[in-house]
Amino acid sequence: MKAVVTGGTGMLGKKLGKALLARSEITKIVLFDVVDPGDTPKDSRIEVVVGEVFDPATIAKLITPDTGAIFHLAGVVSAGAERDFDLGYRVNLDGTRVVLEAARKLPKPAKLVFASSLAAYGGDLPDVIPDEFRLTPQTSYGIQKAMGEMLVADYTRKGYLDGRSLRLPTIVVRPGKPNLAASTFASSIIREPLAGQKAVCPVSADAWMPLLSPRRCIEAFMRAYDLPSSDWGWNRSLMLPSLDVTVGEMAEGLKRHSGAKAFDLIEWKQDEMIAKIVAGWPKRLDSKRARKMGFQSDTSMDELIRNYVEDDMPKAA
Ligand SMILES: NC(=O)c1ccc[n+]([C@@H]2O[C@H](COP(=O)([O-])OP(=O)(O)OC[C@H]3O[C@@H](n4cnc5c(N)ncnc54)[C@H](O)[C@@H]3O)[C@@H](O)[C@H]2O)c1
Repeated sequence: MKAVVTGGTGMLGKKLGKALLARSEITKIVLFDVVDPGDTPKDSRIEVVVGEVFDPATIAKLITPDTGAIFHLAGVVSAGAERDFDLGYRVNLDGTRVVLEAARKLPKPAKLVFASSLAAYGGDLPDVIPDEFRLTPQTSYGIQKAMGEMLVADYTRKGYLDGRSLRLPTIVVRPGKPNLAASTFASSIIREPLAGQKAVCPVSADAWMPLLSPRRCIEAFMRAYDLPSSDWGWNRSLMLPSLDVTVGEMAEGLKRHSGAKAFDLIEWKQDEMIAKIVAGWPKRLDSKRARKMGFQSDTSMDELIRNYVEDDMPKAA
């Protein structure tokens, strides 16, 4: 059976490709993306295909009758979708519809896992968000993700596919370089000091961040895929559990791991624009349903940092 990962050469896509190699029922893994930086896992079962997710002809060739699993991760991230309205809708909304339409044509409904985001919440938020909280996103990105979840739910209801949407918290520590997301500092303030480099923190120490490590996030994708359809029932969207900490607690975690010298590499320099965006995000999540379904978050900053060191931190030469 073939598994397709859209956004397959992205940070999570590559890791998912590697995790799928452990599955004996999956004989081919196609990592589909608009770019191929050439750093995907090397294995005879993995193929990288380059193209635009919103192009129906390209996706019809990608999602062929032997496809049984689709992980839909292709997306323009938050600040990118805010800056370029047309691109955001083309990739995040039209692209999702194209993927779902191709899946609909399959002889047997495929399992599809969609990467949604906490940005689907917005407006006046309580300090702790319960599972059943309304989606009133306040950014184009959040609205596109919320619409993606609705589409996945409707295609599932019609029996065209077996969909599952995961609302991802901020994924930290992201390996590599900062990206366009407004949340990119949350990785930088851990990753850069661990490498002996300075990092600027644009928000104050009391700002809250719901976090999940890439390791836990990939476990969640695999769990979402593995659970039988009956466990999901009519509700195909799930807020993932997170480690909810303040930025100050993140920095303290760094200090416990690497000492005061690393901690001192964080420069606290408020950026009003970023601070305002972060203040509008969910602070803490009460993900009862996900925990009941067996999804897990990191339990402490210590574990989250350790996961980065073990999985992604470049080893000293
Ligand atoms: N990382 C996070 O903190 C986080 C949080 C919430 C949601 N998400 C969502 O999870 C998914 C994966 O996140 P990530 O951190 O790996 O991001 P990423 O940016 O590393 O990966 C997204 C991939 O989508 C690809 N893409 C963009 N436009 C495309 C197009 N037109 N056609 C095909 N591919 C295209 C990009 O090239 C990129 O490789 C995204 O949909 C993102 O919105 C991520």
